[in-house]
Amino acid sequence: MRHGELPVYDRTDQAIRLIEEERRRIARDLHDGPAQDITNVSMRLEIIQRMLKTNPELAEAELARLNRRVVGIVNSIRRLIYDLRPVAIDEVGLIKAVTELCRRAQEEWPVSIELTVAPDVHDDFAPAKQVALYRLVQEVFQNIRKHAEASSIRMSLTRSGPELHIDIADDGKGFDPAAIPAGRYGIAGMQERTAYLGGQLRITSAPQRGSRFLFTIPVYGER
Ligand SMILES: Nc1ncnc2c1ncn2[C@@H]1O[C@H](COP(=O)(O)OP(=O)(O)OP(=O)(O)O)[C@@H](O)[C@H]1O
Ligand SMILES: [Mg+2]
Repeated sequence: MRHGELPVYDRTDQAIRLIEEERRRIARDLHDGPAQDITNVSMRLEIIQRMLKTNPELAEAELARLNRRVVGIVNSIRRLIYDLRPVAIDEVGLIKAVTELCRRAQEEWPVSIELTVAPDVHDDFAPAKQVALYRLVQEVFQNIRKHAEASSIRMSLTRSGPELHIDIADDGKGFDPAAIPAGRYGIAGMQERTAYLGGQLRITSAPQRGSRFLFTIPVYGER
């Protein structure tokens, strides 16, 4: 092994690195999101404080605006917490968890979702794998919400032999999967975690043509 090279064939090492990267993303999301928003609120408060003497009416209006912003920040923190919460996969199973994810997404952001589950798809495989798959789906949804400007999503779970296919397509603005800017780790992490599960992720997208994420993961027939 050359100096500085990580032993990628070591699965324990890889698993630890995946967890560390995930933590780094959570830290970044907190930093870029709520932490920055609250800093901003603090700056506005200082301005309002000075305004109190010179223009109390404007100060009052500004305070009301700021209050609405704080409510928005609290909501975004709640969303972060909800997304981080462990999913009770062992109680409900992947199919129900994904169905619930779709229901919530439709409720929270303006998008219509069509989910189909083939009759031969069931979720009686290892719970840890189910959680891993749920997290992948969650991440695709987060990306659609953040970037796609989509009005609808079609998602299907189908099966061929030992493999489960998770197909998620949006009708949003699309992107070039070959030209992801530096410092973005979501899709790279998805690719890596899918490979870790012994599966494949195929992404097809083009600007203005929507995006499609197709996961193929061997989950059946190992016991
Ligand atoms: N469904 C989608 N529709 C349109 N663009 C997308 C979609 N998914 C991803 N992208 C584009 O691909 C880029 C890379 O996505 P990726 O998940 O790797 O990073 P990110 O979401 O920007 O940041 P991170 O996931 O690290 O928080 C995004 O910045 C966005 O431009
Ligand atoms: Mg992302």
